[in-house]
Amino acid sequence: MQPRPNKLAPTREPLYESPANYAMAFGYRDVAAETWNLRECAARHSARPVRDVLEIACGHAPHAPHWIAAGCAHTGLDASMAMLRYAQRETARRSNKYARFVCGDLAAMPFQQAFDLAYVLLGSIYAPDTQALIRHFDGVAAALRRGGLYVMEWCVDFEPFVDYVDSWTHEYDHVRCTTLYRAEHLNRIEQTILETVEVSVETEGITREFVATAQKRVMYPQEFLQFIRQHPSFEFVGWWNDWNLDEPLEQAASINRPLIAIRRV
Ligand SMILES: C[S@@+](CC[C@H](N)C(=O)[O-])C[C@H]1O[C@@H](n2cnc3c(N)ncnc32)[C@H](O)[C@@H]1O
Repeated sequence: MQPRPNKLAPTREPLYESPANYAMAFGYRDVAAETWNLRECAARHSARPVRDVLEIACGHAPHAPHWIAAGCAHTGLDASMAMLRYAQRETARRSNKYARFVCGDLAAMPFQQAFDLAYVLLGSIYAPDTQALIRHFDGVAAALRRGGLYVMEWCVDFEPFVDYVDSWTHEYDHVRCTTLYRAEHLNRIEQTILETVEVSVETEGITREFVATAQKRVMYPQEFLQFIRQHPSFEFVGWWNDWNLDEPLEQAASINRPLIAIRRV
């Protein structure tokens, strides 16, 4: 007997080609408060005022309108044109102003001393291997003006020996959006993981499924500190738990959504 096709299994679409669905999946964040925290981090630790801001792997760039409202010029870099088009449209709609968006790879950044602050969120340093990771930090060093900060959310693996799984569900009007995040070790010598983000969006009985996978070269805490100490263009500033600049990681009982800051010297 021929196996019957499974009508219940929808085809999975690329997540980063579908910015509105990505935005729902990661819509749990208070982006106004996060922008305020990034500004506060700069107020405390940057050696220069912040006018020009760069978000790396910006995606749909939900923070951009808040930077613009604070009087800053915002540039977003991302590899997905679909994300950037959406970000451009949404920023203009929400702030009545334009931000600059550049399509490119974070391991080959095209900027020279153009920014006072750079940031990357949700652990989005998508470097597949050590060389790409080094090129990324060299690119950020070239992009930042002296005294400027590079602030990273996650990006260092504080639980290096376990595969990580998380999931969450949100309801928006008639839409139910479930996200499953997985990080599985690929190669413990090369320190690479396979990251998978699966998003399922159900609207009035119809389900669409989206997926993004990427190989990432992970950094461990002491390795990261050593790398920054030896980097000619950066110094380590600090790391804090859960976006709270008054809670250094050393005091954290468990680590969640850490912020890490380094400064361009
Ligand atoms: C998890 S999303 C983060 C989006 C946004 N920063 C946020 O806070 O919601 C990751 C983003 O990284 C982008 N990306 C993946 N690999 C990249 C690369 N090599 N260079 C630049 N962007 C990349 C994807 O297109 C996607 O928009």
